[in-house]
Amino acid sequence: MIGAYDTLEKPLGYDAILEESKEIGFGMSSDMTVGALLRVLIASKPKGNFLEMGTGSGLALAWMVDGMNSEATITSVDNNPELTAIAQRYFGVDSRVNIRCEDAEEWLANYEGEQFDLVFADTWVGKYTHLDTLLRQLKQGGFYVVDDMRKQPNWPEGHEEKVKNLLEVLDSQQHMEVVQLDWATGVVIAVKK
Ligand SMILES: C[S@@+](CC[C@H](N)C(=O)[O-])C[C@H]1O[C@@H](n2cnc3c(N)ncnc32)[C@H](O)[C@@H]1O
Repeated sequence: MIGAYDTLEKPLGYDAILEESKEIGFGMSSDMTVGALLRVLIASKPKGNFLEMGTGSGLALAWMVDGMNSEATITSVDNNPELTAIAQRYFGVDSRVNIRCEDAEEWLANYEGEQFDLVFADTWVGKYTHLDTLLRQLKQGGFYVVDDMRKQPNWPEGHEEKVKNLLEVLDSQQHMEVVQLDWATGVVIAVKK
C-alpha cells in the first residue's frame, strides 16, 4: 500500500543513532520519510558532491550516505560538538564523508570547493539566512531540499512568518524550478536550471 514506510529498509546505523539521540535528548532529527526521499535524490547523482547544513546526530546523514555510490562525497556541518561526535562515530571512518564541527555561516563564507549536486538545508544558515550564498554553491541541475515547512504547534512566535517568507523567496527564484510538497513535515524541493 502507498505510504507503507514501516517496510522501508533503514540505513546502516540508523537505529543506533536514533537510540543515542534519545539518550541525549536530541529530538530535532528529520523523520524517516524525509530520509528516504533524500536517499532517492542522492542516488540519482552518482559521483555526486553533497552538502548537509545541520548534521545533528547524523540521522538524515545516514540516509544520504546510504544513497551514495562509492565515488560520491558528502560534507555535513554542525556547530554542536556533542552531536557531531555521534555522527563522527558512525561515519568518521568513511572517507566519502566529511563532518565539520563549525559555525555554518563561517563555513559557508569560507567554502571554495566544487559546487554541490544536492544540498539539504536543515539549519538556519542556508534556509532562513544566507539563502542566496548557499544557492550560489548549487550546481546546475542540483537539488535544494528543506523540510519542516508544515506548521507545528510548538513553533516559536514569528516562525510561521519566516517559513512563509522562505516559501515566497524560493518560488520567486528565476533560476529554480520549485515544488512544495504538503507531505511528511512539509518539504520543498528546488532544482537549479
Ligand atoms: C534540525 S537539526 C539537524 C538535524 C539533522 N539534519 C537530521 O535530520 O538528523 C539542526 C542542527 O543545526 C545545528 N545548528 C544550529 N545553529 C548552527 C550554526 N550556526 N552552525 C552550524 N550548525 C548549527 C544544531 O546544532 C542542530 O543540530
